[in-house]
Amino acid sequence: MADFSANLLAPIKVCLLTYGCQMNILDSQVLSGNLTRQGFTIVEDESEADAVIFITCSVRDLAERKVLGKAGKLNVKRRRRPEVVLGVTGCMAELKGEELLEGKNVFDFVAGTHKRHLIPEMILRALCRRVAAAEVTAANAEHIERLGKALAPYMEECLASEGSLLAVGKDPMSFGLDELEAMRPRPWQAFVEIMRGCSNFCSYCVVPYARGPEVSRPAESILSELRALAVSGCVEVTLLGQNVNSYGKDLPAGSMSFPELLKEAAKIEGIKWLRFVTSNPQDISDELISLMASEKKICRYLHFPLQSGSNRILKMMNRKYTLEGYLEKVAKLRAAMPDLWLAGDLIVGFPGETLEDFGETLRAVEKIDYANNFLFKYSERPGTAAARLKDDVPLEEKKRRHAELMALQGRLTHEHLKSLVGTIQEVLVEGRSKRNRDVLQGRTTHYANVVFEGDPSLIGKFVQVRMESATPLTLYGSCERLTGEEKLTDEKETSGI
Ligand code: 5AD
Ligand code: SF4
Repeated sequence: MADFSANLLAPIKVCLLTYGCQMNILDSQVLSGNLTRQGFTIVEDESEADAVIFITCSVRDLAERKVLGKAGKLNVKRRRRPEVVLGVTGCMAELKGEELLEGKNVFDFVAGTHKRHLIPEMILRALCRRVAAAEVTAANAEHIERLGKALAPYMEECLASEGSLLAVGKDPMSFGLDELEAMRPRPWQAFVEIMRGCSNFCSYCVVPYARGPEVSRPAESILSELRALAVSGCVEVTLLGQNVNSYGKDLPAGSMSFPELLKEAAKIEGIKWLRFVTSNPQDISDELISLMASEKKICRYLHFPLQSGSNRILKMMNRKYTLEGYLEKVAKLRAAMPDLWLAGDLIVGFPGETLEDFGETLRAVEKIDYANNFLFKYSERPGTAAARLKDDVPLEEKKRRHAELMALQGRLTHEHLKSLVGTIQEVLVEGRSKRNRDVLQGRTTHYANVVFEGDPSLIGKFVQVRMESATPLTLYGSCERLTGEEKLTDEKETSGI
């Protein structure tokens, strides 16, 4: 349909609102790049936008309610600007589909997880319809004029086309090409998708339904993206997949396994740190563990979700390991890398979880001594196997168990951070601290959050930081020097404040 090449679309401002996991952050960066290349202007502030696109998550009910709440508010604001388009993509779009176009008329289009390439066209079509139908008032006259001019070449075709503003369903989509256009706000740091979907069907989880079965991206496509990223100055890469340990199993015989892929990635000059998520305990291999131990580019932080410390609950969750099996893997990891920090995911209040089961989770967390944990209250997801079980732990009790685990994990996290006080750590500087714009924030190989004084010119660089104190979530330190240099060239310049 539309010929985007004329670059007439710059006056059209699009805002992306992103919810959920790293996959969605990457989807949002890819979409930003894609829209920019087609000529649209990306804006941060939703109140400035002509089209607001929600990149959604369905993993828990709360994530969906946040999106619906926000979209409802923007819909009310449309009383002043009825020409504004609201679109939805991501997991919620895939799962709810048509339902999102019905009822209160909030969303103009729905593009499922495998249809993001259709979004630019859907924005145009929805915008033409809205602009043509909008009443012109003092509040929107200027906008209508601006949009009318930009849309003029497309208006007739868009209004005549019967094209649906609903696109869902799983398509094998080509990997790679559109990723290269991703707009990364921090060019030295990149998420790179190595596989899509999940075929594990943990009983509580909606991801296999929302994202389809596991599909691995060919290794050559990943490696050539990594090489291009390295050339453009990227120093830290996080490889993304719902279950990276099964990477390649769906590819033709002779394709690389995950450890083989990582090994090749580590050979790329310029990329200094490699991270990956998520590593499913059921199939982490000895080969991966020994590669992690020998390859210094692989960071000393592993996200290794346990979900529950009770074997009875793990079985009901359709997780394919026992606590003992998990502990064995942890012992191997720690034997190979004594300085490895572990992070987990845990769900409290799964159907039938007793106080005894929960006690086993508490004991497991203490024993494993996680550096960090993502803690969730069980949320029943329609269509999953667990939804057939009675969601019988009352919300108040879920909250209580959640708070108890939070307190325990808080103590463990603080202990981990305190253990670094007095040491000098390499830190990748990520930006100015959110809380205090006068100081810098970065991460260690352990993914520990570090705040220190320094010049903004250090952002995106590796520095050596002496750790001086630790609060429950943050280390505070002083910057000693740039990695690889004797000392910072000018102490005054780098003192920052
Ligand atoms: N309820 C609560 N937490 C869930 N997760 C996935 N599905 C659910 C659910 N229905 C959690 C798991 C997973 C993380 C991404 O979200 O811990 O690892
Ligand atoms: Fe969901 Fe389990 Fe797949 Fe993770 S491994 S995305 S929890 S089904």
